[in-house]
Amino acid sequence: MRMVDLIEKKRDGQELTTAEIQFIVSGYTKGDIPDYQMSAFLMAVYYQDMTDEEITTLTLAMAHSGEMIDLSSIKGIKVDKHSTGGVGDTTTLILAPLVASVGVSVAKMSGRGLGYTGGTIDKLEAIPGFHVELSDEAFMRLVNESHVAVIGQSKEIAPADKKLYALRDVTATVNSIPLIASSIMSKKIAAGADAIVLDVTTGEGAFMKNLDEARRLAETMVRIGNLANRQTMAVISDMSQPLGEAIGNSLEVVEAIETLQGKGPADLMEMCYILGSQMVVLAKQAATLEEARAMLEEALQSGKALAKFREMIRNQGGDDTVIDQPERLLTAEYQVELPAKTSGVVQKIVANEVGIAAMLLGAGRATKEADIDHAVGIKLHKKVGMSVTAGESLLTIYANSTNIEDVKELLYKNIEIGSSGTEPELVHDIIS
Ligand code: URA
Ligand code: CA
Repeated sequence: MRMVDLIEKKRDGQELTTAEIQFIVSGYTKGDIPDYQMSAFLMAVYYQDMTDEEITTLTLAMAHSGEMIDLSSIKGIKVDKHSTGGVGDTTTLILAPLVASVGVSVAKMSGRGLGYTGGTIDKLEAIPGFHVELSDEAFMRLVNESHVAVIGQSKEIAPADKKLYALRDVTATVNSIPLIASSIMSKKIAAGADAIVLDVTTGEGAFMKNLDEARRLAETMVRIGNLANRQTMAVISDMSQPLGEAIGNSLEVVEAIETLQGKGPADLMEMCYILGSQMVVLAKQAATLEEARAMLEEALQSGKALAKFREMIRNQGGDDTVIDQPERLLTAEYQVELPAKTSGVVQKIVANEVGIAAMLLGAGRATKEADIDHAVGIKLHKKVGMSVTAGESLLTIYANSTNIEDVKELLYKNIEIGSSGTEPELVHDIIS
């Protein structure tokens, strides 16, 4: 087989066979196929698209390019959840203990974040003592005993994706549905879960800027998940403004605790119920979404979900007294209010730009090696659709530096106040 013939075949819009796709993925991962040929191939895919069969083969070939995690020693149906990206997305921190408290096994291997704020692992490390490095045996034992453990990714998951993603990034081929779908699903499939709930975000803070694209991505991922024998469904959610009120690692841990106490932001709580209900049904702990939701509401109101978070923190060496005194996590030196310049209704809070503001404060990584400042971030007091009077605080900036004029300016530029504005719909569609 010659790569040049396969590039030509895809360029001309023909369907590639399983053997051809496997040849491309393994050849590129090993370094036998050079970047320039792979670049041409990616651009051909960008323009010609792929069939579901091609995408499934591509996904499985990428998944098998590295370690395939075996979770079979954990009892029951293991359900994973993945978001295609958001700002201030605290859902995993809440969902893991919430669904575990009703008997769903959550064996989560998570990454560190690159960009806006940290990943789930960075957020958990904001809890003093919490460690995310466990042996496989300890990890499996914890999930069997306690239904939940969240650890950092130590094994090499889907190295083909890592290499391809870096190449896509510099060849203007990131934004291709078959390439995004295979990238995300290869990592999910390699991570070993039996069932997958996808949160496909749409809006200015997300990869998919409009609903039609988001729907097509969601449908593609659901089909290939199911073709690969992983029960998969997707929720298409709004990410035009940040989810919840907290953006930043410690702030999001506090927000998660407050939400598990029943005092969290309404949109974040609702999103957790929607995604959580799907996870409970896929894990066969409830027959219907209504039943699942009732179980989760009961777990939250009775304190069972919060107790599970406490248990999870203690199991992983963390200081569980933060559950009782979450404000102890807010150690930033300065808290600065951002007053509204005019009166009116909040029309727009551009999610990704607010994410960048948090990153500039130190909450995220601009490069892979950069350190994260867990204490800094942004806490929104006003969200889209809320009234505000001039001088009233729109948000609090948590900073460890007084040099934050550029951050303030960026925030002012991306929060619009006008005469009217309505709260966006949280969920646009559900694909199962
Ligand atoms: N997230 C991924 O992991 N891969 C993509 O291609 C896009 C978003
Ligand atoms: Ca949040």
